[in-house]
Amino acid sequence: MKGILLHGGHGTRLRPLTHTGPKQLLPIANKPMSEYCIESMKDAGVTEIAIIIGGIGSNKVREYYGDGEKFDVKITYVKQDEPLGISHAINLCRSFIGDEKFLVFLGDNIIQKNIYNFANEFLNSNDDASILLCEVDNPSRFGIADMHEGKITKIMEKPKDPPTNFAVTGIYFLTPKIFDIIDNLKPSWRNELEITDALQILLSENNISYHIITDYWKDTGTPEDIINANRAILENKTSYFYGEKSDSVSLTGIVLIGKGTKILGNSQITGPVIVGENCILDNVCIGPNCSIGNNSQITNSNIQNSIVMSDCIINTPIKIRNSIISSNSEIEFKNDSQDEKIFLLGEGTKILL
Ligand code: DAU
Repeated sequence: MKGILLHGGHGTRLRPLTHTGPKQLLPIANKPMSEYCIESMKDAGVTEIAIIIGGIGSNKVREYYGDGEKFDVKITYVKQDEPLGISHAINLCRSFIGDEKFLVFLGDNIIQKNIYNFANEFLNSNDDASILLCEVDNPSRFGIADMHEGKITKIMEKPKDPPTNFAVTGIYFLTPKIFDIIDNLKPSWRNELEITDALQILLSENNISYHIITDYWKDTGTPEDIINANRAILENKTSYFYGEKSDSVSLTGIVLIGKGTKILGNSQITGPVIVGENCILDNVCIGPNCSIGNNSQITNSNIQNSIVMSDCIINTPIKIRNSIISSNSEIEFKNDSQDEKIFLLGEGTKILL
């Protein structure tokens, strides 16, 4: 089966993290979030993927995924000049898809369930689309489906008054019938060709099947969502230790330490925590729920529920909580105010406290 991965958009809700690159490359447990999408697509039997790129740092997507060989999948790139909607992005892939059934995955959706069975059922059915629904607390942030007697009756985008709290997740099994529908679609109030509008038209004449997923699913629209997804992914990992540590260091819970990383002094690492390669952690309290990228140096610091990307330097007694700190950032301590801080730092930020 072929697949489309949406890696475009402006990522405005995640600024300043997205000033230098697409949000779908932001790391969760030290891996770009869209790599989890590619893994899910492969699980579903997808062997060829068109990645939609557009907006800031599209070149970083090409650099990271290349022709897909490293990820065991064939990748081509489709440029979307403006983020004119999910349906618009899908329509750009018409010739890539041809006349086969296909899978669309939004690059900011993380799902932990293996979707192979859903894909298989769809391929063997006469359905013109199959979608995955998930119950959410804040339904007006999503596409929503209404159902009666086991059938979907209506699909709408971000309703003010949602009839159910079943969100339409960003994982869509489709047939080429959708292309003709998109050709006749009108832009929505947010000036986008909405996938929910296309599905609603499809629904009026055809059958759309659905599954309700109860396992972890997240649309990582906000920094809190990303930190939450980081925890969910880390909690399912198995500990490893490829680094070095001094005797007084304590490691508890799920802890993953990469090659060449040194943990020194009286450091306490409380899982779930992942630390990349070639880091130095000296006299630190890290965790629970932290990811530290490669080559970072953290000294005399206390970090909890946070993501620190690669090549960062942190040395401060001020507690860092619920923060996302982009690559090449520096936080250094210069006065004696003991406090707790929340940071959302774009790439290359330098802070003297
Ligand atoms: O996450 C599920 C939700 O995703 C669904 O419930 C909604 O029905 C669906 O419209 C979508 O809502 P969002 O408002 O969250 O979509 P967002 O603008 O964040 O775009 C989703 C992904 O697609 C994101 O990774 C960026 C990418 N994208 C988006 C647009 C509009 C593109 O690549 N091109 C685009 O033109």
